[in-house]
Amino acid sequence: MLTLALLAAPALAQDGRAAFEARCVSCHAADAGAPPGPGPNLAGLAGRRIGGDPRFDYSPALRGAQGAWTAARLSEFLEDPEEMFPGLWMGGNGVRDAAARRAIVDYLMR
Ligand code: HEC
Repeated sequence: MLTLALLAAPALAQDGRAAFEARCVSCHAADAGAPPGPGPNLAGLAGRRIGGDPRFDYSPALRGAQGAWTAARLSEFLEDPEEMFPGLWMGGNGVRDAAARRAIVDYLMR
């Protein structure tokens, strides 16, 4: 797939916005004020409570979660989302590739 080929190129993987648009934007907006889609809005995620989009109806897995998002926590989450939150409603949409993951974390924690 073209998207995967692009993400495999290290220079482009640094571009977190492009990686986010390729892999996440089908479900998540990242602009403040945008409505949630199939997934919660991710604007202002740094320091936001986990499961903290008031307009999104979260699964019990995220409704019962404690704490707030940090870069370290987000990176660990994206490496294997279901491992951190068993029963999560996000499909198999983690980011195994470390460079792409770092770029997406930087973009969302900006
Ligand atoms: C197929 C749709 C889909 C895709 C693609 C997807 N997600 Fe999600 N995501 C969700 C859903 C649905 C939830 C809420 C899960 C729940 O309630 O269990 C979620 C939750 C999250 C959360 C927790 C948000 C909060 O408010 O605590 C983060 C962070 C997140 N996704 C990041 C990402 C990133 C980054 C990507 C791209 C690599 C991505 N997601 C791709 C559907 C998706």
